[in-house]
Amino acid sequence: MWRPPERIRYVPTPGRWPTVAEAAASQLFSPVQIGPVRLRHRTWVPAMVPWRASPEGFVTQDVLDWYERFGRGRPGALVVEATGIRDVPSGPLLRIGHDRFLPGLRELVRVVREASAGETRLLIQIIDFLTIRRRPDPTRYFSEFLAIRAPHRRAYGRSDASEGEVRAWLASRSRDELMRILDPRELEALDYGYRQRVTDVELEQIRTLPTQLPMLFAHAARRARECGFDGVELHYAHAYTMASFLSRHNVRADGFGGDASHRARLPLEVFAHVRSMVGSDYPVGCRLLAEECIDGGSTMEDSTYFACEFARAGMDFLSLSRGGKFEDARQPKVGEAAYPYTGKSGYECMPSYYSDERGPFGRNLEVTARIRAALLDQQLNTPIVAAGGIHGFHQAEAILAGGTADIVGFARQALADPDWFTKVARGRGDEVRLCLYTNYCEAHDQRHRQVTCELWDRERLDDSGVRLAADGKRRLTAPSWERAE
Ligand SMILES: Cc1cc2nc3c(=O)[nH]c(=O)nc-3n(C[C@H](O)[C@H](O)[C@H](O)COP(=O)(O)O)c2cc1C
Ligand code: SF4
Repeated sequence: MWRPPERIRYVPTPGRWPTVAEAAASQLFSPVQIGPVRLRHRTWVPAMVPWRASPEGFVTQDVLDWYERFGRGRPGALVVEATGIRDVPSGPLLRIGHDRFLPGLRELVRVVREASAGETRLLIQIIDFLTIRRRPDPTRYFSEFLAIRAPHRRAYGRSDASEGEVRAWLASRSRDELMRILDPRELEALDYGYRQRVTDVELEQIRTLPTQLPMLFAHAARRARECGFDGVELHYAHAYTMASFLSRHNVRADGFGGDASHRARLPLEVFAHVRSMVGSDYPVGCRLLAEECIDGGSTMEDSTYFACEFARAGMDFLSLSRGGKFEDARQPKVGEAAYPYTGKSGYECMPSYYSDERGPFGRNLEVTARIRAALLDQQLNTPIVAAGGIHGFHQAEAILAGGTADIVGFARQALADPDWFTKVARGRGDEVRLCLYTNYCEAHDQRHRQVTCELWDRERLDDSGVRLAADGKRRLTAPSWERAE
């Protein structure tokens, strides 16, 4: 993962923990409405993919255990990982693209309800993503994957040459020559692996995204409601399809790209379909980027406009993130796929303990505050969820008291210690296992390996009922909190 060159090392600084009375009187532990549903507390666990689903996208026992463990900590809201809306194979990523996924997802809802004694509201993040392939071995790229075109033949110098001859010739060219012969997308496919974009309108499945996606999202949301989830989060952030429609890089000329109002069109149409499918008495919001943090990408000006449009359209919450794009991702090794959290924008999305003078704690807050203020200026009081390096009670309380956000998200801190919420509410904050922001968890995510936290995955491995990761060395859920009541 990319790190700021300053490499200043930070440690978490939660400050003093509150007493039970202070916690009870705090804003953090006060209720908030998201549309028709009330969260008991303004605490929120944002979506995190733990790579626990079956290869066909079904809920497994490991998925149930993972969310059960979060439920036991009783956050105000828990958002289930990015879950695919299509009925297509997507590896071990949770899916909601067909009714056959419903029994497992219903069980997931039941398990979290029981573990949290009904205190945690359970939402599910629903996602669409485009094709991305692994970085090819160059030999195979030239012999199989590259589509031979007229410019390749011209460069070879014989328009009647067989495809095989052109392929063999290209495979033996120097890097400098290839840079002249291949177009930028072909070079990217060679160096990083082929990646589809929403602007590839010459492909029918890309051109027709605006007609396909509204109903795909709407049916996924309907299924979420049928399973008993308390709400749906539309994934409009990071590197995926909907965020790509919102991006300044989206120059589609069909009314769904170009200026900000055209880029917002499909996300608004998706929301309208979802809303009419699930009704006005069901929470629907989205996660979007406050800034893309890439060259030529969307800025706070764009996201303020999007946030206001989404709020005006009737979204029940807006969860803000930053960065996490493919455009600046690190080059993967041959045989691996590019990963959107490995570049500078990835750092902004999940900042780690080696940082610059701004540090990793609360880097998103300034822009979040400005977007919320712009919403309020327009009398739009849609609740805003902030996240990014938040781990301390006073830090969270200041976010609410200062008007930066209405709800505070704790992703990696909740992974490190799912009991953060209960411990702090009970005046036992000094027992919190603080996230060190090392991104060890994220490194597993990157390799699509079961995500665990280095602070607990080797602890008490012989406790009864402990399930281990596929490597046989790591426990899959945080150890229970031994409450010395
Ligand atoms: C292992 C892992 C998986 C993640 N998966 C998702 C995801 O599915 N959807 C999403 O919007 N963000 C995802 N994120 C980003 C987090 O939700 C969060 O925005 C980010 O970690 C910053 O918040 P934090 O500093 O509190 O961890 C993931 C983060 C981690 C560490
Ligand atoms: S591995 Fe644990 S300590 Fe490290 S960043 Fe992830 S949650 Fe935090």
